[in-house]
Amino acid sequence: MADKPTLTTTAGAPVPDNRNSLTAGPRGPLLLQDYQLIEKLAHQNRERIPERTVHANGWGAHGTLKITGDLSRYTCAKVLQPGVETPMLARFSTVAGERGAADAERDVRGFALKFYTEDGNWDLVGNNTPVFFVRDPYKFPDFIHTQKRHPRTNLRSPTAMWDFWSLCPESIHQVTILFSDRGLPVSPMHMNGYGSHTYSLWNHSGERYWVKFHFKTQQGHKYFTNAEAAEVIGHSRESYQEALYGAIERGDYPRWTMQVQVMPEKDADKMPFNPFDLTKVWPHGDFPPIDVGVMELNRNPDDYFAEIEQAAFSPSNIVPGIGHSPDKMLQARIFAYADAHRHRLGTHYEHLPINAPKCPVHNYYRDGEMNTTGCRTGNPDAYYEPNSFAGPIADPRAKEPPLAISGDADRYEHSEGNDDYSQARALFNLFDDGQKERLFENIAESMSGVPEEIIRRQLGHFAKVHPDYADGVRVALGIR
Ligand code: NDP
Ligand code: HEM
Repeated sequence: MADKPTLTTTAGAPVPDNRNSLTAGPRGPLLLQDYQLIEKLAHQNRERIPERTVHANGWGAHGTLKITGDLSRYTCAKVLQPGVETPMLARFSTVAGERGAADAERDVRGFALKFYTEDGNWDLVGNNTPVFFVRDPYKFPDFIHTQKRHPRTNLRSPTAMWDFWSLCPESIHQVTILFSDRGLPVSPMHMNGYGSHTYSLWNHSGERYWVKFHFKTQQGHKYFTNAEAAEVIGHSRESYQEALYGAIERGDYPRWTMQVQVMPEKDADKMPFNPFDLTKVWPHGDFPPIDVGVMELNRNPDDYFAEIEQAAFSPSNIVPGIGHSPDKMLQARIFAYADAHRHRLGTHYEHLPINAPKCPVHNYYRDGEMNTTGCRTGNPDAYYEPNSFAGPIADPRAKEPPLAISGDADRYEHSEGNDDYSQARALFNLFDDGQKERLFENIAESMSGVPEEIIRRQLGHFAKVHPDYADGVRVALGIR
């Protein structure tokens, strides 16, 4: 007994018996004053929290980001200076499946990173694709509804998916990636990550650069065909968890090369396409990727719930030297995530150890449910601002350079003048014959049961990307 800790109540008192209920006589009934039994059952009732509304199924690990390149002329962000090493957390996910869904499903993968920098947490909440299905946030909730279950059948609905995509041609680039090999990686370690949006970097001279972040897998790209994935799921629904957890336990640490593409602020106006449009990449030929550093995952969480399920990533978390951009999708996300966290985890979700910055935190927020820190000003008399009691004050050095904006406030048709097809064509042209065949087959398979009118509408979009694309899908569908 002596070498084992004593089991206690949550209030710290020793528990005399954790196996036999308190009863009137050996056969019962139970007595209400068996408070430990009541507490045990009550705790179990509260073990689940709301799952993420999207990206509910995920896998994560701790690691480090080491900067090996030199971005100092673009940014004053301490986390991006040469030689700096920053502890970080990564969470990968599928988008549509609920918690516990099979890992090896065809879907976009989330690639969420939290860097615990000395200037606060920087979160880069991206995907394994450089683009997205829509470019206006008004469409996001509708898009997600098409990925989730049908209200009546309670099944996923290929009709809803293809109906939406065929009515939103801006989705064709991302749809092409989703149904290509990269739409079903064998593990989180065998895929790239992309910040996807255009963000910004700024330096102490007040210069701003637009930037795209990329994380290139050093494990190489590996994918499952649909048939291979079905086989894997038949054996294990947790193939990603097994692969990531297992690799890190073995000391086989996965790594990604961090790269950026950089564009001077003023050049955005000269681009033939809108560089803030999330359905577009910046061609590498025009904006060559620059190596920045290496991200390595090297520690498994000790408690999945505390460190991965309770992790709260948000594009609103930026640090001095890194900023947002006019991308409308990004701006909506700046609001959406912290709001989701307050609902999912509570007002003070940033008090949770996994979300807490590893630098001093001072603010005037007070009270509230599950407040674990009290007012964080460092002085109980300084609980409002301005004050005469040495309470924390703002630091103007953290201010971004001013951003010139112009234009009439209006609801602008986002599809107007937008070329939805060229970049999807550039991608299609990168595929070899085998990749094209698998693309056609994957699409045809997913269109099973979809009304012909919707299929024909979508074939029209494939044809605008490339006639071979539409023909290939038509053949795979067995239609003319
Ligand atoms: P490049 O040929 O210079 O860039 C090709 C990029 O495409 C590389 O990053 C490569 O990623 C990636 N790629 C190569 N094969 C595939 C594939 N089978 N499926 C998905 N991605 C692949 O051309 P551009 O920069 O002009 O881009 C052409 C097209 O490539 C784009 O329209 C876009 O669809 C896709 N792409 C472009 C990216 C960009 O940031 N410019 C990023 C990712 C994709 P890797 O090095 O990992 O093999
Ligand atoms: C998760 C909203 C677009 C990547 C989430 C969550 C919400 C959300 C509410 C759940 C957060 C939580 O409960 O913790 C939105 C909205 C979008 C949008 C409103 C568009 C307007 C995107 C885009 C990307 C992305 C474009 C990638 C480029 C992710 C990832 C997660 C996530 C990776 C999971 C984060 C984690 O691992 O905890 N999103 N999203 N989302 N989203 Fe988005």
